[in-house]
Amino acid sequence: MGSCKLFVGFIFAIIFLTGTHQTTAKKDKRIHIYQLQKGNFSMKFTNYGATLISLVVPDRNGMLDDIVLGYENIHDYKNDTTYFGGIVGRVANRIGGAQFCLNGTCYKLVANDGNNTLHGGKVGFSDVIWSVKNYQNDSQITFTYNSFDGEEGFPGNLTVAVTYQIIGTNKLQIKMVAKALNKPTPVNLASDTYWNLAGHADTGGILSHRLQLYAQNYTPVDSNLIPNGQIRSVNDTAYDFRTPQIIGSRIHELPGGYDINYVLVNSSKGKHLNKAAVLEEENSGRWMEIWTNQPGIQVYTANNLNRVKGKGGAIYRKYAGVCLETQGFPDSVNYPKFPSQIVNPGQTYQHTMVYRFTAR
Ligand SMILES: *[C@@H]1O[C@H](CO)[C@@H](O)[C@H](O)[C@H]1NC(C)=O
Ligand SMILES: *[C@@H]1O[C@H](CO)[C@@H](O)[C@H](O)[C@H]1NC(C)=O
Ligand SMILES: *[C@@H]1O[C@H](CO)[C@@H](O)[C@H](O)[C@H]1NC(C)=O
Ligand SMILES: *[C@@H]1O[C@H](CO)[C@@H](O)[C@H](O)[C@H]1NC(C)=O
Ligand SMILES: *[C@@H]1O[C@H](CO)[C@@H](O)[C@H](O)[C@H]1NC(C)=O
Ligand SMILES: *[C@@H]1O[C@H](CO)[C@@H](O)[C@H](O)[C@H]1NC(C)=O
Ligand SMILES: *[C@@H]1O[C@H](CO)[C@@H](O)[C@H](O)[C@H]1NC(C)=O
Ligand SMILES: *[C@@H]1O[C@H](CO)[C@@H](O)[C@H](O)[C@H]1NC(C)=O
Repeated sequence: MGSCKLFVGFIFAIIFLTGTHQTTAKKDKRIHIYQLQKGNFSMKFTNYGATLISLVVPDRNGMLDDIVLGYENIHDYKNDTTYFGGIVGRVANRIGGAQFCLNGTCYKLVANDGNNTLHGGKVGFSDVIWSVKNYQNDSQITFTYNSFDGEEGFPGNLTVAVTYQIIGTNKLQIKMVAKALNKPTPVNLASDTYWNLAGHADTGGILSHRLQLYAQNYTPVDSNLIPNGQIRSVNDTAYDFRTPQIIGSRIHELPGGYDINYVLVNSSKGKHLNKAAVLEEENSGRWMEIWTNQPGIQVYTANNLNRVKGKGGAIYRKYAGVCLETQGFPDSVNYPKFPSQIVNPGQTYQHTMVYRFTAR
């Protein structure tokens, strides 16, 4: 079974690579695929959205599977509404009413989620072509983007650099750095990767995965998923993952599933990383830890996926993957009590996260 899966995966990988290279040449010469690899740990990216398109890591028997959801053809990312694997920004997550005021100046943003702005607007950072820097060997790559004053309504020029790097054994580090050049602006970048540790094409979905979060509180939201400004204890709610819990065990208590920001217990915005989450899948034995310097993590159980055609003929349905997005809190620009996301000219935003994979 396992080796068959591996073989089929290999064939799909060949079709995927040759297929996309041909269409790339025809459609847009600026969009390419890049690969990082160390031993049996490998991943692919595209500079369209600085997107992680695949990540392959052994299970407990050494069998390899691609454990992130994504598209067969890189051009499918252009029409995408899922944000699969992209770097979202300038401000990840939602801004209520698509507006905010900063030091007396109010900014009207592009609304793309009802009356709200989601993941940077209609054309956020996951929908632009990034430049590639520092792709010298197969262990790291940096994508850069210059965001202009007024892009999707946000103030000031902003330079952004995202570096993916393999470190140690089966660890992927993402460093997101942004510099405001001429005006203060909110910045909140996040990796919107959808995980299924049993393999992206596994039809069982993620309800049987076990999740632990290093969070005692969450930020409640209204029916449009905009925070009401409160910080509430997870105790005695379906949001409680302080000890490892099967994701599906209480999901039906919630409308649609999980789509909520957690307040991490150790939220230094400093240099050192704190453990934020652990995700485990029993059949494969795969285990993923997430470490970050950010104050929050969004848990989204892919509630809106509806038969999306993915890599290798996979069909992704509701709950086919889980997003664990380290971030600042949603709608922080409108809640002074939430940790500030404002970056002043000359200041640098620094978001670091590490995924550590093992199998047991
Ligand atoms: C890669 O996986 C194969 C098959 O399980 C194994 O034989 C090999 O030792 C692994 N290589 C590394 C570098 O771990
Ligand atoms: C993307 O969407 C547009 C408009 O909805 C459509 O015209 C176009 O054919 C789509 N492209 C792909 C590659 O699906
Ligand atoms: C707001 O204005 C004050 C006074 O001019 C200044 O000190 C502060 O840095 C400004 N804040 C932002 C976010 O621009
Ligand atoms: C958007 O705001 C308008 C005006 O306040 C309101 O009528 C409409 O119902 C809102 N739309 C959504 C999707 O919330
Ligand atoms: C890859 O390049 C980076 C930076 O140039 C360096 O730190 C790293 O050691 C290199 N890795 C390998 C395997 O050569
Ligand atoms: C901001 O960006 C615009 C357009 O890219 C450019 O013309 C302008 O010189 C930039 N200003 C600063 C201060 O970087
Ligand atoms: C959690 O809730 C239970 C039942 O409502 C209560 O007995 C307990 O004291 C609470 N624990 C904490 C840490 O708040
Ligand atoms: C949080 O910080 C405290 C104090 O430094 C430390 O003891 C604890 O292990 C940390 N918890 C996590 C989940 O990082």
